[in-house]
Amino acid sequence: MIAFERVSKTYPSGQVALQDVSFHLPAGRLAFLTGPSGSGKSSLLRLIPLIDRPSSGKVLINGTDIGRVGAWRIPRLRRHIGVIFQNPHLLNEWSVFDNIALPLRVQHYPREETVRRVRAALDKVGLVDRESARPLELSGGEQQRVNIARALVARPSIILADEPTGNLDPELSFEIMRLFMQFNAAGVTMLIATHALDLIDAFDAPRLLLRDGRLTTEGL
Ligand SMILES: Nc1ncnc2c1ncn2[C@@H]1O[C@H](COP(=O)(O)OP(=O)(O)O)[C@@H](O)[C@H]1O
Ligand SMILES: [Mg+2]
Repeated sequence: MIAFERVSKTYPSGQVALQDVSFHLPAGRLAFLTGPSGSGKSSLLRLIPLIDRPSSGKVLINGTDIGRVGAWRIPRLRRHIGVIFQNPHLLNEWSVFDNIALPLRVQHYPREETVRRVRAALDKVGLVDRESARPLELSGGEQQRVNIARALVARPSIILADEPTGNLDPELSFEIMRLFMQFNAAGVTMLIATHALDLIDAFDAPRLLLRDGRLTTEGL
């Protein structure tokens, strides 16, 4: 679950990004985070894996008030959260397999378990036959699917996506959204930021709507 209680965020520059934002996304649910460019979507998402901290208010993840989580516990908290950004940031010298295996290597998973999980993740995103390819040999849509496989390989309970289809054509964007719906059907809590309203109209999910850092919700 993800809960925000009266969260505000003002950057050191004085720019106000979020104002008094409250919502509750129960475990296993999926919601879209929408709003025009500059409305605060990325600022909101960055508070969840503790990439940034709120100026005031509380953020709760799976019941834990993350404002009270000490620096040494942050890596453990992040293991429950998969993050997908618009640009894949893949390591181009590495194979698809090694890119996806990275989060498991960091956590010292045994070799066999790593192979099993990477192949399962490749299967979920439909790339089983590309594990030895290098990222630059893949299309943009395939690169984004590698990015998604890497975010889910450690089996997070929460997946966050920030404009995940921003660089993809409408057909591929639709495929990526369908993939997210499947992960959610398997029990993953998902928050997907996008300003592509025509794309998400095809999917029946609640919306968190940001405007100038203020939130209105529909259907949650
Ligand atoms: N690191 C930052 N420092 C200062 N201002 C920022 C920073 N990140 C975002 N902003 C500002 O905060 C507001 C919200 O931005 P952002 O969260 O990126 O919106 P969105 O993702 O909806 O486009 C904007 O006015 C933006 O310029
Ligand atoms: Mg953004």
